[in-house]
Amino acid sequence: MMRFLFVIIVILSTAIYGENPYVASPNAYKDFWEESIKNPEKFWDEQAKMIPWMAPYQTVWEKPESTNDAFVGKWFVKGKLNAASVCVDRFVPKHGQETALIWVCEEDSRSRIYTYKDLSIAVNQAANLLKAQDVKKGDRVGIWMPMVPELLITQLACAKIGAVAVVCFSGFSACNAEERFTDVQCKVLVTADGGRRRGKVFPLRPELSSAFLQSDFLKKVITCNNCSLAFSITTKDVPWNIGSMNEICDPEPMDSEDPLFLLYTSGSTGKPKGIVHTTGGYVVYALTTMKYVWGIQGLLFPHKEEREVWFSTADIGWIAGHSYITYAPLALGCVVLMYDGVVTYPTPERFFSLIDQYKVSHLYTSPTLLRQLASCGDTIPSKFTFDSLRVLGSVGEPILPETWQWYYEKMGKGRCPIVDTYWQTETGGYLISPIAGVTNLRPGSCCFPFLTINPKILRENGEEASTGEKGFLCIAAPWPGMMRGVYKDQNKFLTTYLEKFPGFYYTGDEAYKDADGYIWIVGRADDVIKVCGHRLGTAEIEAAISTFPGVVESAVIAVPDAIKGNDIVAFIVAKESLSPTDIKQHIHHMFGPIGVPKDIVFVPDLPKTRSGKIVRRILRNLYLGEQIGDTSALANPEIMEHLLEISRPV
Ligand code: PRX
Repeated sequence: MMRFLFVIIVILSTAIYGENPYVASPNAYKDFWEESIKNPEKFWDEQAKMIPWMAPYQTVWEKPESTNDAFVGKWFVKGKLNAASVCVDRFVPKHGQETALIWVCEEDSRSRIYTYKDLSIAVNQAANLLKAQDVKKGDRVGIWMPMVPELLITQLACAKIGAVAVVCFSGFSACNAEERFTDVQCKVLVTADGGRRRGKVFPLRPELSSAFLQSDFLKKVITCNNCSLAFSITTKDVPWNIGSMNEICDPEPMDSEDPLFLLYTSGSTGKPKGIVHTTGGYVVYALTTMKYVWGIQGLLFPHKEEREVWFSTADIGWIAGHSYITYAPLALGCVVLMYDGVVTYPTPERFFSLIDQYKVSHLYTSPTLLRQLASCGDTIPSKFTFDSLRVLGSVGEPILPETWQWYYEKMGKGRCPIVDTYWQTETGGYLISPIAGVTNLRPGSCCFPFLTINPKILRENGEEASTGEKGFLCIAAPWPGMMRGVYKDQNKFLTTYLEKFPGFYYTGDEAYKDADGYIWIVGRADDVIKVCGHRLGTAEIEAAISTFPGVVESAVIAVPDAIKGNDIVAFIVAKESLSPTDIKQHIHHMFGPIGVPKDIVFVPDLPKTRSGKIVRRILRNLYLGEQIGDTSALANPEIMEHLLEISRPV
């Protein structure tokens, strides 16, 4: 009898172990979450043990003196660490020969593999190259690169010497990138001559303006040769030849609260904001969320199964790539598969074949890519086994139940849980997500809050919304990975995130909770739009349009698109007859390809409130041929007659 019981216990525990080694059941998670809300410091103290601290922290969380000052307070106070050592060096003594990074490119012949030792050496050499350019702790280093290993290596090289990495997505135009790098006054810019997308080469370094290159703050531009593109060399140019640099570089002991990186993101108004993330809180948060949500053990928690192969289709130019390509998966000791180019090029088969070929176990992607794949039919995915897959993930935009089902059945073959992870650039890591293998899933819902995260859905007046009622998604208490501010504009931090609902962090999203407590994200409540999962500010695209000669003003709206989630439409008031093609080219140049509208509609005026605010809702309804609703509050109601004639429903 005892033997029989023992066998049952072993079978049960291996079954659970195989699913998620950290949480046993939905009820256990609920209890764990409740406990974590009561005592977040205890939880984070426990998780921080995953980090090799160079000096121990004295307090887990130092509460802010006043909620209005800085909702977040300080985390792991007085602790010292180095993020590059956490992500790479610590594995070298025991696991130096284990694979850290598999880099695959559109051109297969160029793929490369780095062990933890190789990566550690490359990071040290890149760090020494930066030091040779006089980069010191606290200096900002701009990074504008395609998805080459040198991008991730530069991020970690900055971390190694305490410089603040400022990555700009390579799909943004040079004008856009220069604006960000000027805002942070980067001492050095690391870039590439160009990148590859859909079999074509696009230039980066040759696109930089001479005005930017001559800026006083910019001392050097390091260019990695990726495509052998020519450009005119200046006295500031330095080639990326790290091979000749010393392989040893001592890690800079960084304070927990020292900034690790800045990442620009779009808001409702004006220019993009430089979101500040710190070293200790951010790294612990990214690591912990990945560990629990995906049930990953990596090299940190060795196990008998094969090592996890992590594949995220995100770009490091966005937060999804920062947290869950560079920092968390390496810090856990996963094999990171990094892809350069378009994963569906030349055909979607390319993407599917990568999974079987590299035995991907954990796949993280966006609903946009899934919609694109699903639209190609089932013949191609049915050719692949996807035997290695264990957990699937989605991020960046709401996933519709039919896309979820396709993902679950055609890729997960009905046996892999899907984690629909809700979070933001500002949050550093997951806020709301299922726990793989534990949460009972509902397609289209991000399910439940992560440990210590306390979300509330509020009405405009601050009261809590009732079950099923849409409201503003807010978080009631800070967490270690939360942004610490907006670079050089702390007031913006307060006004954008902390003032609307005092005592809460306001996400800018609308959501509702169902009767079982599942959270459903509805979408943005502000003028931020999501196109292919990319976060864009309507104000930024409008700013690009406004610099086209002859444009008086413009309003940009998002309209639904079956693949991209949303697409962009621009309404433009012009002084004279203008060519839509020329305006699109101008936006491409000023903003980058992702900001180019699918349609431009010329109008004599824009509908505005008496305080001068453009009523985008009216433009959207007009464009989509929907009911316009009440227009009596407009300052210029007479415009409606013209708009009804001009706008065209899709
Ligand atoms: O609107 C939400 C949406 O993406 C926004 C954050 O964008 P970004 O800062 O670029 O970070 C994207 C990757 C973390 C959010 O305010 N969003 C993110 N994840 C989801 C989502 N919407 C619905 N479901 C999600 N899982």
